[in-house]
Parts: sequence; structure tokens; C-alpha cells
Amino acid sequence: MSVKLESVVPFGRSLDEYQQIFNLSEDDLSKNILGVGDGPASFNVEMLKLGHVVTSLDPLYGRSAIEIEQQFHAVVDDVIQQVKATPENWVWTYHTSPDNLRANREKALTRFVKDYERGRQQGRYRIGALPHLLGLEDRSFDLALCSHFLFLYSEQFDCEFHLAAIQEMLRVATEIRIFPLLTLSRDKSVYVESVIQMLQSNGFEVGIQKVAYELQRGGNQMLWARHS
Ligand SMILES: C[S@@+](CC[C@H](N)C(=O)[O-])C[C@H]1O[C@@H](n2cnc3c(N)ncnc32)[C@H](O)[C@@H]1O
Repeated sequence: MSVKLESVVPFGRSLDEYQQIFNLSEDDLSKNILGVGDGPASFNVEMLKLGHVVTSLDPLYGRSAIEIEQQFHAVVDDVIQQVKATPENWVWTYHTSPDNLRANREKALTRFVKDYERGRQQGRYRIGALPHLLGLEDRSFDLALCSHFLFLYSEQFDCEFHLAAIQEMLRVATEIRIFPLLTLSRDKSVYVESVIQMLQSNGFEVGIQKVAYELQRGGNQMLWARHS
């Protein structure tokens, strides 16, 4: 049995999670970073507190803070219930329990919401959706990150979408990192190999790296690619 979601859930992660998910070094944190599909993550505001300005893009940013909170609360009980019902699918070294996972997602949401209006005005939260990152210049970012959207929702978004989305991320950034490589059913996304082939045949350097973060059992790999 695995977690089933009808649509993409607005769950957000912290800076500490992003650091583990993407193997972000101190040097990486100083780069010009684009967060694609950042949703209600507290990554952006926590980076700001460290003096780093991140640009986050998400279709969700067309909504008000209240609407985003409502979307979160509409699904959180069901998701945590599904997690509790599938104990074999999860590793608790980071979050320690389903209830703490929920508390950590609520903490990220609260931090995000407090920063949201100011961040929108400052252009740190911008409406945008893959596969077209409209209004962004070629190679205008050092690093583009995509956490818990591409590959994870492979049932909802097809191979063509993934290929186009990842090429678009590499149009606007010198390097990209994507996590996880698993779907919601915990299978490795069938699109990973097609993406790697497409990237190699287009002359990009590409690889898969093991990372410290693992919540979905077996979900501890990140795909990176960069202009050579
Ligand atoms: C599970 S959340 C992950 C949020 C954040 N990246 C994190 O890991 O904490 C997935 C996010 O993908 C966003 N999303 C949905 N469709 C998208 C698209 N076409 N392009 C970019 N992001 C999208 C959703 O709005 C949602 O905020």
C-alpha cells in the first residue's frame, strides 16, 4: 500500500531539509538560487535570515496566504493518516514520527505565511509553473532546485512534461538538482532514465547522488545536471 493523492499537496520543507535533500554546501548557499515549486516551504525565508536572497516560483503564489493555509489544512489529516497506515514505507531518523512530521510541516507553513506578503512584494515569491519559466532570462541563476514535485508526481505529469520542464530549468540555471527520484508509490520514476538520456545527448553533465535525507524509504537520491 502507498500514499495516494488526488493532486499536488501544498506541503513545505525547511532550510535544514533542503540542505540535506540537495547536499547544499556553504558555498552553494551563497549562489543565486531559484526554487522551482517551493510552495509553502520555509527555505526562502530562512535563507533570507542568513542574508541570502532566493527566488521561489510556484503556481500556488497566485493564491492568498489564507487560501494556501486552507489548502494545507484540507489535506493534512488525510496525508498523516495515510502515513500512519503505511509504517513500512517511511524512515523516521529525521522527523522521528508522523505527528512530528505534521508539526514540522506546520512550522514551515507558519514561517512561510509570515513572510509571504513581504516576499511577494520583494519578488522572492513569484507565480510560475513548469514547464515554462516565463520571464526568466537564460542562465540567470547559478542553481535551480526542485523538491517534491518532479518525479514524485509521475502519475500526474507525463514524460514529455518532465523532459520539457528539466530542459527549461537548465535554460535558466547553470546547474539543477531534483529530489526525490521516487514516485508517491515509492517506485523509481520511469522518467529518470529518459531524462538522463535526454540530458546526456544534449551535452549536459548529469549524475545521481546519494543524500543524507530519507523519509520515503529508499528515497535518498538526488539528480543533478549542469552545463559542461
Ligand atoms: C509537495 S509541494 C513541495 C514544496 C517544496 N518544494 C518543498 O519541498 O517543501 C509541491 C509543490 O509543487 C507545486 N507545483 C504544482 N504544479 C507545478 C508546476 N507546474 N510547476 C512548478 N510547481 C508546481 C505545488 O503548488 C506545490 O507547492
